[in-house]
Amino acid sequence: MLQKKRTLADLQNAAEFIARHVGPSTEDQQQMLSALGCGNLQELTEQVVPEAIAMTEDLAIVDGCTEAQALAELREIASHNKVFKSFIGQGYYGTITPNVIQRNILENPAWYTAYTPYQPEISQGRLEALINFQTMISDLTGMEMSNSSMLDEGTAAAEAMALCQRMSKSKSSRFFVDSDCLPQTIEVIKTRAEPMGIGVEVADPADFDGEAFGILLQYPGASGEVRDYRDIIGKVQAQKGLAVMAADILSLVLLESPGSLGADVAIGTTQRFGVPLGFGGPHAGYMATREAYKRNLPGRLVGLSQDANGNPAYRLALQTREQHIRREKATSNICTAQVLLAVIAGMYAVYHGPEGLQRIAQRVHLLTSVLAEGLRLNGMVPTNKHWFDTLTLNTGSGTDAIIKAAAEREMNLRQIDAEHIGLSIDETTGTEDIIALWDILLGENSLDLDALAAEVAAALPDDLIRTDGFLTHPTFNSFHSETEMLRYLRKLADKDIALDRAMIPLGSCTMKLNATAEMLPITWPEFSNMHPFAPHDQTGGYRAMIDELESMLCAATGYDAMSLQPNAGSQGEYAGLLAIRGYHESRGDTHRTVCLIPSSAHGTNPASAQMCGMQVVVTKCDDQGNVDIDDLKEKAATHSENLAAIMVTYPSTHGVFEEGIKEICQIVHDHGGQVYIDGANLNAMVGVCQPGKFGGDVSHLNLHKTFCIPHGGGGPGVGPIGVGKHLEPFLPKEVEGGDRRGAQVSAAPFGSASILPITWMYIRMMGRAGLKQATEVAILNA
Ligand SMILES: Cc1ncc(COP(=O)(O)O)c(C=O)c1O
Repeated sequence: MLQKKRTLADLQNAAEFIARHVGPSTEDQQQMLSALGCGNLQELTEQVVPEAIAMTEDLAIVDGCTEAQALAELREIASHNKVFKSFIGQGYYGTITPNVIQRNILENPAWYTAYTPYQPEISQGRLEALINFQTMISDLTGMEMSNSSMLDEGTAAAEAMALCQRMSKSKSSRFFVDSDCLPQTIEVIKTRAEPMGIGVEVADPADFDGEAFGILLQYPGASGEVRDYRDIIGKVQAQKGLAVMAADILSLVLLESPGSLGADVAIGTTQRFGVPLGFGGPHAGYMATREAYKRNLPGRLVGLSQDANGNPAYRLALQTREQHIRREKATSNICTAQVLLAVIAGMYAVYHGPEGLQRIAQRVHLLTSVLAEGLRLNGMVPTNKHWFDTLTLNTGSGTDAIIKAAAEREMNLRQIDAEHIGLSIDETTGTEDIIALWDILLGENSLDLDALAAEVAAALPDDLIRTDGFLTHPTFNSFHSETEMLRYLRKLADKDIALDRAMIPLGSCTMKLNATAEMLPITWPEFSNMHPFAPHDQTGGYRAMIDELESMLCAATGYDAMSLQPNAGSQGEYAGLLAIRGYHESRGDTHRTVCLIPSSAHGTNPASAQMCGMQVVVTKCDDQGNVDIDDLKEKAATHSENLAAIMVTYPSTHGVFEEGIKEICQIVHDHGGQVYIDGANLNAMVGVCQPGKFGGDVSHLNLHKTFCIPHGGGGPGVGPIGVGKHLEPFLPKEVEGGDRRGAQVSAAPFGSASILPITWMYIRMMGRAGLKQATEVAILNA
């Protein structure tokens, strides 16, 4: 039989990815459809999605393309990032990801496709990896216990403030913040404090009078100074307040731990333990505290238990998972955390062991001291008396010229103000960099680096030098060769079931295939080595990708603007409600603080609302989890005057497209409230209906559900928010002087930027038709 000649376009197979992404074959789909009595996917979708909200037009997204084409396009975009050597520091440092960790964790689906370890029998590997992280943190911070990661250092500090408020017996409503804290931490603290009625005072701890329910101290400070905070900690504790120390994890290898200085809580980031800069994230923040506060520790905690046969087994302890978030009584809304990054940081410590970490920390410190000594000999004395890795220099009127000279050599320094520069040294700094810095800062010089390195003294205060041991557990002292490490990682991965082995029969939200082509770009140096505060003209690639992604997500949701700052769904909820709050305030409606939340809502909804200073009013649901519209009408009328918003999940938590959604939105709008549609289940809507068009004013999306970012065993995630035009000005601020003037919710301007290429790739390869098909097949599968 003569075969019909296939066209070039046909052979090119531009839609190749759609068929690879969508699991069930056409035959499988047909079989399922006929069991449902439907002729095709469209018919089923029409039956399921209420007509009143169904999209009638195509998604405004271009057609999909092949994997090779999408990768080539993204490569071109990435080439607009100029990766300079960074000395900016400020909480983000160059680090060397051990190759064995990069290949076998970060790039290994056994680790990155795993789900949150709710089911311990299939999660012993990652639970052990998280126990390593927790042990590493409690050892280095000298605290009794640690959780298994926070979203970043800024939010960890804000969560610590909430813990202090809850646990302190002080009557004060003041939280004192060391003016030498990282600027982005101060911003996030201020954001969190305002709706909670907390007064934040940012000042020099030397001027602290003791009156506060808590204090936050940076160790070492953003200036690089290393201060002994024992007296200040004593002062706040004497007045029943609690002390939090934000501590640099690498410095703790050499410095007395926060616990030994008397702190109640220690927080920070573990980014510099092998996790690439990635333009600000994702990285694992940490929080450690006293045993006495364990029930108030936010996030997840892994504990050692016994299985049915009496054998030791790990599990999530104290039920801190999201189903148990204390809803409207919560102080924290964290759900998705940073598991994959915590696993990497913990394994970095396993790989290097205590001696390896000491070598790295000592080298960083010695290079910093050599740099400082060379400067001092030439009359440029750092303004900080002590340091671990950071120097502040008074460069006076020469500041701009120095920054420019450094940029010409592809080096970024931190410009603190018109007359000061900061320099941070890290694991990636070489001796040639120190020489280059001397040249830039001093001009002509005759310094001999080796001679200085042999002579120079340490610059840590004598009474802050660490004397106790850490990481003594055998795990941190056994796997130092690559073979041993490789086998250890494999042994742990083999204990778990992730998507690389099987479907995970849990309420796995809307997990998707995390295709290899989507994952490849995240370790491209153009994306992974970018500092979040690199100058604007070096980050063109990131910005172009972010702009395109924002447009793609607006097209998918029907919203007018999108913010990619929130680094989890919970943070999106928080940012979205703050936008609503800002909007009401801008209209003089400061009394609009009531938030209606149906009883079937996810625990993060009421938790976020109360963190925004809103009063949660729970509305009834029927047995199927559908909103009881009569009850909603009644409550909306009762609270009409003060109605701020409703938070409604669509399709509902029970997986149903409620017919009444348009009416629900209308009722709330009629009473002057805003509609927050929780978009965690957007997987069932892309291409078939748009929350921004059927009544939503704001939604968060979970890119780690609908848009292919892998769950990583419980994070990372991205929780962007889409908003209508009227809410755009209240989106989180990203850059100074931009149009968005809402409060900053994450430490980095674009939250977890380095994993955004995953979503970009997914949308680009699927295109309008593929995205719609994925939705329709998801509905069919359900
Ligand atoms: C309906 C709903 N809303 C919000 C969230 C919170 O998202 P995240 O875990 O990214 O913080 C989830 C996560 O499971 C969810 O299912």
